[in-house]
Amino acid sequence: MERELNGRVAIVTGGAQGIGAAIARTLKREGASVIVADINEEGAKAFAAELGEDCRGIRTDVSDMEDLDRLVAFALENYGKIDILVNNAGISRQVDFLEIEKDEFEKFIQVNLEGMVFLTQRVMKHMIERSYGRIVNIASLAGERGGLFAGIHYSTSKAGVIVATKCMALKGGVHNITANAVAPGLIRTPMAERLGLKPDEVAMKRLGSAEEVAEVVAFLASDRASYVTGTTMDVNGGIFMR
Ligand code: NAI
Repeated sequence: MERELNGRVAIVTGGAQGIGAAIARTLKREGASVIVADINEEGAKAFAAELGEDCRGIRTDVSDMEDLDRLVAFALENYGKIDILVNNAGISRQVDFLEIEKDEFEKFIQVNLEGMVFLTQRVMKHMIERSYGRIVNIASLAGERGGLFAGIHYSTSKAGVIVATKCMALKGGVHNITANAVAPGLIRTPMAERLGLKPDEVAMKRLGSAEEVAEVVAFLASDRASYVTGTTMDVNGGIFMR
């Protein structure tokens, strides 16, 4: 069966569980070989094995620059190319603005923002050589309107993801590399359940699913989105409209 991502090689960071796992599964369904890069090594390897024999898992802490070098080398040694990069790895924790300490704020910037910036820098050098690339960055509703539940640390890091995506689009455009962000709203995950999130403010009156986020990522990673770049697509059921 001809699938739209046949022959493509994708890296999904934070792909061992949650939204990242749904993205990895969807890209694989569309024909891509997926490298699951996650700080949870066991989870990454087990999930990649479940996806299929053309998929691999590797331990990667996106805030560790040496890990990023190792990830790119691993991809090129094993697959010879990287077509799609999905920067999904992220952390969140509720901390009040009046309480947060500098170290914790910096940790969020390192994982949620610096990780995607410096992994993309490494991957884009390779994509430029091949004049092809699809970069999709997972931002958040919190990065657009401020954190409802997450605080200033998380929201600021995700706002950074949105503007970093525009910079990547500006740099990559002439090389046929697109870069887009996806901003999920309230998504039904263990975290959402723990927080007891209610969809009262959502136009569609329900939480979203990881799969609904993954479908938009798959579209942006495909050639159907060949003239879409620098944008942020909201997947939020209408809780926030531009
Ligand atoms: P999750 O916590 O279920 O999964 C995150 C994954 O990232 C885990 O597999 C974890 O091991 C991995 N990870 C954590 N730190 C890492 C690091 N330093 N290096 C590499 N991997 C690391 O999170 P979830 O809910 O699936 O979120 C995925 C992305 O979507 C995140 O960027 C999050 O900020 C974003 N998001 C989630 C929303 C939600 O409602 N769940 C809403 C908006 C955005």
